[in-house]
Amino acid sequence: MDFENHLSFAIATARQAGGVLRGYFQTGLSAQHKGVIDLVTQADMDAEALILERLRQTFPNHHVLTEERGENHVVSDFTWLIDPLDGTTNFAHGYPQFSVSIALQHKSNTVLGVVYDVMRDELYAALQGKPATLNEYKIRVSDTPDLAHSLLVTGFPYDRQTDPDNNLDRFSVFLLRSQGVRRLGSAALDLCAVAAGRLDGYWESKLNPWDIAAGALIVTEAGGQVSDWDGQVFRPETGRVVASNGHIHAEMLSVLAESVERASLSA
Ligand code: IPD
Ligand code: CA
Ligand code: CA
Repeated sequence: MDFENHLSFAIATARQAGGVLRGYFQTGLSAQHKGVIDLVTQADMDAEALILERLRQTFPNHHVLTEERGENHVVSDFTWLIDPLDGTTNFAHGYPQFSVSIALQHKSNTVLGVVYDVMRDELYAALQGKPATLNEYKIRVSDTPDLAHSLLVTGFPYDRQTDPDNNLDRFSVFLLRSQGVRRLGSAALDLCAVAAGRLDGYWESKLNPWDIAAGALIVTEAGGQVSDWDGQVFRPETGRVVASNGHIHAEMLSVLAESVERASLSA
Protein backbone atom coordinates (compact mmCIF):
# COMPACT_ATOMS: atom_id res chain seq x y z
CA MET A 1 0.00 0.00 0.00
CA ASP A 2 1.25 3.48 -0.91
CA PHE A 3 0.97 6.17 1.76
CA GLU A 4 2.40 9.13 -0.20
CA ASN A 5 -0.94 10.97 -0.21
CA HIS A 6 -1.37 10.38 3.51
CA LEU A 7 2.12 11.82 4.01
CA SER A 8 1.35 14.97 2.00
CA PHE A 9 -1.81 15.38 4.06
CA ALA A 10 0.06 14.92 7.37
CA ILE A 11 2.79 17.40 6.37
CA ALA A 12 0.31 20.09 5.34
CA THR A 13 -1.75 19.49 8.48
CA ALA A 14 1.26 19.64 10.82
CA ARG A 15 2.36 22.92 9.22
CA GLN A 16 -1.13 24.42 9.59
CA ALA A 17 -1.40 23.34 13.22
CA GLY A 18 2.10 24.74 13.76
CA GLY A 19 0.83 28.07 12.42
CA VAL A 20 -1.86 28.09 15.11
CA LEU A 21 0.73 27.36 17.82
CA ARG A 22 3.12 30.01 16.50
CA GLY A 23 0.35 32.62 16.57
CA TYR A 24 -0.47 31.90 20.21
CA PHE A 25 3.22 31.68 21.16
CA GLN A 26 3.90 35.14 19.77
CA THR A 27 0.88 36.79 21.38
CA GLY A 28 1.05 34.94 24.73
CA LEU A 29 -1.64 32.98 26.58
CA SER A 30 -2.44 31.42 29.93
CA ALA A 31 -2.34 27.73 30.82
CA GLN A 32 -4.70 25.53 32.84
CA HIS A 33 -3.59 22.58 34.97
CA LYS A 34 -4.54 19.02 33.94
CA GLY A 35 -2.56 17.73 36.93
CA VAL A 36 -0.20 19.26 39.52
CA ILE A 37 2.45 20.03 36.87
CA ASP A 38 0.69 18.89 33.68
CA LEU A 39 -0.55 21.87 31.66
CA VAL A 40 -2.94 22.46 28.78
CA THR A 41 -3.47 25.70 26.88
CA GLN A 42 -5.97 27.07 24.37
CA ALA A 43 -3.24 26.49 21.77
CA ASP A 44 -3.27 22.70 22.43
CA MET A 45 -7.06 22.71 22.02
CA ASP A 46 -7.18 24.86 18.87
CA ALA A 47 -4.32 23.09 17.08
CA GLU A 48 -5.99 19.76 17.87
CA ALA A 49 -9.39 21.01 16.62
CA LEU A 50 -7.80 22.05 13.33
CA ILE A 51 -6.17 18.62 12.87
CA LEU A 52 -9.41 16.80 13.77
CA GLU A 53 -11.42 18.84 11.30
CA ARG A 54 -8.95 18.13 8.49
CA LEU A 55 -8.98 14.41 9.35
CA ARG A 56 -12.79 14.38 9.44
CA GLN A 57 -12.94 15.95 5.98
CA THR A 58 -10.24 13.80 4.37
CA PHE A 59 -10.32 10.44 6.19
CA PRO A 60 -13.80 10.26 7.80
CA ASN A 61 -13.61 6.46 8.11
CA HIS A 62 -10.31 6.37 10.00
CA HIS A 63 -9.89 5.88 13.73
CA VAL A 64 -8.32 8.92 15.42
CA LEU A 65 -6.69 9.17 18.87
CA THR A 66 -5.70 12.62 20.12
CA GLU A 67 -4.19 13.75 23.40
CA GLU A 68 -6.81 16.27 24.50
CA ARG A 69 -10.10 14.88 23.14
CA GLY A 70 -9.42 11.13 23.17
CA GLU A 71 -10.74 8.90 20.37
CA ASN A 72 -13.44 9.26 17.71
CA HIS A 73 -14.72 5.65 18.18
CA VAL A 74 -14.60 4.85 14.44
CA VAL A 75 -13.66 1.19 13.81
CA SER A 76 -10.93 1.04 11.18
CA ASP A 77 -7.60 -0.62 10.30
CA PHE A 78 -6.19 2.92 10.22
CA THR A 79 -5.44 4.92 13.38
CA TRP A 80 -4.08 8.46 13.49
CA LEU A 81 -2.14 9.31 16.65
CA ILE A 82 -2.07 13.05 17.27
CA ASP A 83 -0.19 15.21 19.74
CA PRO A 84 -1.16 18.75 18.69
CA LEU A 85 1.46 20.31 20.97
CA ASP A 86 4.29 18.19 22.32
CA GLY A 87 6.19 20.33 24.79
CA THR A 88 3.33 22.21 26.44
CA THR A 89 5.42 23.11 29.51
CA ASN A 90 8.03 24.77 27.29
CA PHE A 91 5.30 26.50 25.31
CA ALA A 92 3.52 27.84 28.40
CA HIS A 93 6.80 29.23 29.74
CA GLY A 94 7.74 30.91 26.46
CA TYR A 95 10.58 28.47 25.68
CA PRO A 96 10.59 27.85 21.91
CA GLN A 97 10.99 24.05 21.86
CA PHE A 98 7.72 22.29 20.99
CA SER A 99 6.23 20.33 18.12
CA VAL A 100 3.22 18.87 16.38
CA SER A 101 3.37 15.08 16.14
CA ILE A 102 1.27 13.01 13.71
CA ALA A 103 1.55 9.25 13.16
CA LEU A 104 -0.54 6.86 11.10
CA GLN A 105 -0.84 3.21 12.03
CA HIS A 106 -2.19 0.51 9.74
CA LYS A 107 -3.23 -2.58 11.71
CA SER A 108 -1.11 -1.39 14.67
CA ASN A 109 1.96 -0.93 12.47
CA THR A 110 3.25 2.66 12.24
CA VAL A 111 3.49 3.48 8.53
CA LEU A 112 3.92 7.25 8.64
CA GLY A 113 5.41 9.80 11.02
CA VAL A 114 5.56 13.59 10.84
CA VAL A 115 6.98 15.88 13.55
CA TYR A 116 7.04 19.63 13.04
CA ASP A 117 9.45 21.77 15.10
CA VAL A 118 7.35 24.90 14.94
CA MET A 119 9.76 27.67 15.94
CA ARG A 120 12.73 26.29 13.93
CA ASP A 121 10.42 25.59 10.97
CA GLU A 122 11.93 22.10 10.71
CA LEU A 123 9.68 19.33 9.46
CA TYR A 124 10.72 15.72 10.01
CA ALA A 125 8.95 13.01 8.04
CA ALA A 126 9.15 9.29 7.35
CA LEU A 127 7.21 6.61 5.55
CA GLN A 128 7.92 3.03 6.56
CA GLY A 129 10.68 1.64 4.34
CA LYS A 130 11.68 5.06 2.89
CA PRO A 131 14.46 7.40 4.06
CA ALA A 132 13.59 9.83 6.84
CA THR A 133 13.80 13.51 5.92
CA LEU A 134 14.21 16.92 7.53
CA ASN A 135 12.72 19.67 5.34
CA GLU A 136 12.89 17.13 2.48
CA TYR A 137 16.63 16.38 2.90
CA LYS A 138 17.57 12.84 3.95
CA ILE A 139 18.79 12.52 7.51
CA ARG A 140 20.91 9.91 9.21
CA VAL A 141 21.79 9.03 12.79
CA SER A 142 25.25 9.83 14.20
CA ASP A 143 28.38 7.66 14.03
CA THR A 144 29.27 8.09 17.71
CA PRO A 145 30.77 4.71 18.61
CA ASP A 146 30.11 4.34 22.34
CA LEU A 147 28.22 5.67 25.33
CA ALA A 148 31.26 7.45 26.75
CA HIS A 149 31.35 9.76 23.70
CA SER A 150 27.58 10.22 23.45
CA LEU A 151 25.25 13.14 24.07
CA LEU A 152 21.90 11.84 25.30
CA VAL A 153 18.43 13.17 25.99
CA THR A 154 15.61 12.05 28.25
CA GLY A 155 12.45 13.26 29.96
CA PHE A 156 10.76 12.93 33.33
CA PRO A 157 7.16 11.85 33.95
CA TYR A 158 4.43 14.15 35.26
CA ASP A 159 4.02 11.95 38.39
CA ARG A 160 7.68 12.41 39.34
CA GLN A 161 6.83 14.14 42.63
CA THR A 162 4.78 11.20 43.88
CA ASP A 163 6.17 8.05 42.22
CA PRO A 164 9.78 7.05 43.03
CA ASP A 165 10.00 5.56 39.51
CA ASN A 166 10.79 9.08 38.27
CA ASN A 167 13.89 8.48 36.09
CA LEU A 168 16.31 10.26 38.45
CA ASP A 169 18.29 7.07 39.15
CA ARG A 170 18.79 6.32 35.45
CA PHE A 171 19.49 9.98 34.71
CA SER A 172 22.40 10.08 37.16
CA VAL A 173 23.94 6.86 35.81
CA PHE A 174 23.72 8.01 32.17
CA LEU A 175 25.04 11.44 33.16
CA LEU A 176 28.18 9.88 34.64
CA ARG A 177 28.77 7.45 31.75
CA SER A 178 28.23 9.82 28.79
CA GLN A 179 29.29 13.28 27.63
CA GLY A 180 26.00 14.72 28.84
CA VAL A 181 22.26 14.26 29.16
CA ARG A 182 19.84 16.95 27.99
CA ARG A 183 16.21 17.48 29.03
CA LEU A 184 14.60 19.38 26.18
CA GLY A 185 10.89 18.88 26.88
CA SER A 186 9.39 17.43 23.70
CA ALA A 187 9.63 13.65 23.37
CA ALA A 188 8.81 13.82 19.65
CA LEU A 189 11.66 16.28 19.03
CA ASP A 190 14.02 14.26 21.25
CA LEU A 191 13.51 11.30 18.92
CA CYS A 192 13.97 13.49 15.84
CA ALA A 193 17.25 14.87 17.25
CA VAL A 194 18.52 11.27 17.42
CA ALA A 195 17.28 10.67 13.86
CA ALA A 196 19.13 13.75 12.59
CA GLY A 197 22.39 12.77 14.34
CA ARG A 198 22.24 15.82 16.63
CA LEU A 199 22.00 13.56 19.67
CA ASP A 200 23.09 9.95 20.01
CA GLY A 201 20.51 8.33 22.27
CA TYR A 202 17.21 8.85 24.06
CA TRP A 203 15.23 6.94 26.65
CA GLU A 204 12.01 7.65 28.48
CA SER A 205 8.97 5.88 29.95
CA LYS A 206 5.40 6.68 31.02
CA LEU A 207 4.73 8.32 27.67
CA ASN A 208 1.68 8.02 25.44
CA PRO A 209 1.58 6.60 21.92
CA TRP A 210 0.98 10.07 20.43
CA ASP A 211 4.26 11.30 21.96
CA ILE A 212 6.51 8.67 20.40
CA ALA A 213 4.96 6.76 17.48
CA ALA A 214 5.93 9.30 14.79
CA GLY A 215 9.40 10.04 16.15
CA ALA A 216 10.23 6.35 16.59
CA LEU A 217 9.51 5.64 12.91
CA ILE A 218 11.64 8.65 11.93
CA VAL A 219 14.60 7.28 13.94
CA THR A 220 14.21 3.81 12.39
CA GLU A 221 14.09 5.17 8.85
CA ALA A 222 17.14 7.37 9.58
CA GLY A 223 19.12 4.18 10.24
CA GLY A 224 18.78 4.18 14.03
CA GLN A 225 17.58 1.56 16.45
CA VAL A 226 14.41 1.78 18.52
CA SER A 227 13.30 -0.79 21.08
CA ASP A 228 11.65 -1.43 24.38
CA TRP A 229 13.97 -1.23 27.41
CA ASP A 230 14.50 -5.00 27.41
CA GLY A 231 15.56 -4.90 23.75
CA GLN A 232 12.22 -6.27 22.53
CA VAL A 233 10.30 -4.76 19.63
CA PHE A 234 9.16 -1.18 20.32
CA ARG A 235 5.40 -0.77 20.74
CA PRO A 236 4.16 2.83 21.19
CA GLU A 237 1.31 1.76 23.49
CA THR A 238 3.78 0.64 26.22
CA GLY A 239 4.94 4.26 26.57
CA ARG A 240 8.53 3.06 27.03
CA VAL A 241 11.26 3.65 24.50
CA VAL A 242 14.99 3.63 23.94
CA ALA A 243 16.26 5.04 20.65
CA SER A 244 19.83 5.40 19.49
CA ASN A 245 22.24 5.51 16.60
CA GLY A 246 22.55 1.72 16.94
CA HIS A 247 26.21 1.74 18.04
CA ILE A 248 25.38 2.61 21.65
CA HIS A 249 22.13 0.66 21.90
CA ALA A 250 23.47 -2.36 23.80
CA GLU A 251 25.20 -0.11 26.34
CA MET A 252 22.01 1.89 26.86
CA LEU A 253 20.00 -1.31 27.32
CA SER A 254 22.43 -2.54 29.96
CA VAL A 255 22.18 0.72 31.95
CA LEU A 256 18.38 0.47 31.78
CA ALA A 257 18.44 -3.22 32.84
CA GLU A 258 20.67 -2.37 35.83
CA SER A 259 18.30 0.37 36.94
CA VAL A 260 15.25 -1.90 36.60
CA GLU A 261 17.08 -4.47 38.76
CA ARG A 262 18.04 -1.85 41.39
CA ALA A 263 14.40 -0.72 41.55
CA SER A 264 13.15 -4.30 42.04
CA LEU A 265 15.74 -4.95 44.82
CA SER A 266 14.75 -1.80 46.71
CA ALA A 267 10.98 -2.44 46.33
C1 IPD B 1 5.42 15.72 27.21
C2 IPD B 1 6.73 15.94 26.50
C3 IPD B 1 7.90 15.72 27.45
C4 IPD B 1 7.84 14.37 28.12
C5 IPD B 1 6.50 14.23 28.81
C6 IPD B 1 5.39 14.33 27.76
P1 IPD B 1 3.29 17.15 26.44
O1 IPD B 1 4.33 15.88 26.32
O2 IPD B 1 6.88 15.04 25.43
O3 IPD B 1 9.14 15.81 26.81
O4 IPD B 1 8.89 14.26 29.05
O5 IPD B 1 6.42 13.06 29.52
O6 IPD B 1 4.14 14.03 28.31
O7 IPD B 1 2.54 16.97 27.71
O8 IPD B 1 4.08 18.38 26.39
O9 IPD B 1 2.42 16.91 25.23
CA1 CA C 1 3.23 14.95 24.37
CA1 CA D 1 0.62 17.48 24.11
